[in-house]
Amino acid sequence: MKRTGLFMLVGDPVEGSLSPVIFNTAFRSLNINAVYVATRVPSGILPSFIAGIRQAGIRGFNVTIPHKVAVIDLLDSLDKSAQEVEAVNTVVNRRGKLVGYNTDGLGALMALEEEIGQIRGKKVVLLGAGGAARAIAFSLVKAGCELTIANRTLSKAEALAGIIERKLGKRVRVTPLGRRELRKEISEADILINTTSVGMLPNVEETLVSADLLHPDLVVNDIVYKPLKTKLLREAEKAGAKTISGLGMLINQAALAFKIWTGRPAPVEDMRRAAEEYLREVG
Ligand code: ATR
Repeated sequence: MKRTGLFMLVGDPVEGSLSPVIFNTAFRSLNINAVYVATRVPSGILPSFIAGIRQAGIRGFNVTIPHKVAVIDLLDSLDKSAQEVEAVNTVVNRRGKLVGYNTDGLGALMALEEEIGQIRGKKVVLLGAGGAARAIAFSLVKAGCELTIANRTLSKAEALAGIIERKLGKRVRVTPLGRRELRKEISEADILINTTSVGMLPNVEETLVSADLLHPDLVVNDIVYKPLKTKLLREAEKAGAKTISGLGMLINQAALAFKIWTGRPAPVEDMRRAAEEYLREVG
């Protein structure tokens, strides 16, 4: 019998991650002899853990908080998707050579385009300037959006805008999170995306933007998926805006990783159903 393939999630913490459910469902659906396990790896042991993964022939792994940047120095090469963003969420082990990819940005873009079609030329306000924002911001600008980054710490928004301008040669606007500034930016925008953790369980009553700042022509996407219907999405509904939950990005970034590892298109509908079921049961 062929050896069971092993795939992993490497992060800290990893409790409550949906990735094992999503990938194990995908392997089962396509009859692939493989399993996916989430492992908590504290920063101190990351180098030796990655060396172990390489030597033990583990086929691939996902990287999550807090290792998406630190892992870069431990890999053999980077795909363009990770080079640009300078962060890795997916690694494939090709005969002992570890190659890093980033599927977060494209995953987010696919999730948006599945719902609203081509987003070229759209005005997008992105809330947040952290790791998640970075990958999404790059893919939006590359797809031809006009981007404004809104962040509590303005200097971080400026730094991210600077990196994008330098690498992609496109202007990116920045704004603090003040109500007046947000009202103005959002009134002119087509799409609003929250990339911050605000509104995530257990803080389900928190949102950076309330209904009075939104409008019916807006599409509001929250990348938080716990809960699926965040306070921001509830406010968006109140304002008559179209809402997109974080599930689409989660599934699409995983589907891209699955394709990198197995060479096969992911069974996205099965993966989505399994994630929804899990979220309904566990919350
Ligand atoms: P991630 O990798 O998930 O993006 P991160 O890099 O720590 O996490 O980034 C978190 C983002 O959420 C940041 O943009 C942060 O704003 P600051 O740069 O000002 O810290 C934002 N954020 C987190 N909690 C917030 C809050 N209560 N209000 C406003 N912004 C918040």
